[in-house]
Amino acid sequence: MSAMNCAYPSVDTIRAAIGLAQRAPSVHNSQPWRWHLINERLHLYADTSRHLPATDPHQRALIVSCGAVLHHARVALGALGWHSEVETLPNPAVPEYLAVLDLAPRRPTATDIQLAAAMTHRRSDRRRFDWGKMPELSLKTAVEYGTRFGAGVQTVASADRPELSELIRRAARHHAHDVPYRTELAAWSGCRGTREGVPARNTAAVRAEDELPGRAFADPALADPKLTRDAATWLVIATDSDERAAQLRAGESLSALLLAATDLGLATCVQTEPLGLPELREEIRFSICAGKHPQVMVRAGLATRAAPLAETPRRRAEDVLPF
Ligand SMILES: Cc1cc2nc3c(=O)[nH]c(=O)nc-3n(C[C@H](O)[C@H](O)[C@H](O)COP(=O)(O)O)c2cc1C
Repeated sequence: MSAMNCAYPSVDTIRAAIGLAQRAPSVHNSQPWRWHLINERLHLYADTSRHLPATDPHQRALIVSCGAVLHHARVALGALGWHSEVETLPNPAVPEYLAVLDLAPRRPTATDIQLAAAMTHRRSDRRRFDWGKMPELSLKTAVEYGTRFGAGVQTVASADRPELSELIRRAARHHAHDVPYRTELAAWSGCRGTREGVPARNTAAVRAEDELPGRAFADPALADPKLTRDAATWLVIATDSDERAAQLRAGESLSALLLAATDLGLATCVQTEPLGLPELREEIRFSICAGKHPQVMVRAGLATRAAPLAETPRRRAEDVLPF
């Protein structure tokens, strides 16, 4: 029977959509979410037992990650023929209760199908990006798509890059002596054979000489292409307020931006290291985001000449959606 003839998706359809949505990016691949299917409604909760307090003291990256999985789930359901109506933060007395989805049959759009396909081949690419001409129109399209979900997406202007470079370096220097941060990083990266965490094979050694270096992970094992410089464009996703609802929207915008960029052939990687330090976050807010609240940053560029990256593992649908 086609979805058009049913009022509600089968459990198998929900499981398939949640399985696909597991491809969503999350801070240190912590996958800090769980789903519940109750009375034909799909409920999303933040799983605070997976919070990374030393990396993400205010749970910002945790909520942004949950926003990303929310958008991924909506796209996956859409591609399977189910439109979702979303209410966010349905019960203010339960802050971990992030969203409830009501589903109705709807023919998949071409965008649903393209973005769902992009979920399976999007990767966080931490290598240097190529100097070939970045297709400006593709980046503009991805940025525009990201802004539809309620957060602003801006490109870091050349004039602001030295300031951002300095703030990134200050974050790295701070974390180099921060024992709880380093302990958490060691527990969640350099991983081999687990369903969570950042695998060694997906991280390249950080090169301090790069203008805007990324976060250094444990035991990097990814070969960098032979490029003398990194040509990444940096984007910041920022919101007018800094409440949980805004952070969730930033995560939806992030997911939309990454999937559209992947679909258009761009390489991307999320970056948040200085945003986990309140003082540096405030400096980024006022020096780069004109007072808006920075929630997450993204490197984007061309990785055309580099080898494809291995998929980062995920927990299974049944791990996050109990039946
Ligand atoms: C909120 C958030 C923060 C992240 N911060 C960083 C970061 O600072 N540096 C980095 O290299 N990757 C960062 N990532 C990317 C994750 O490490 C990545 O999504 C995860 O390991 C899964 O790998 P994949 O994106 O290749 O599927 C972040 C992702 C999210 C959603």
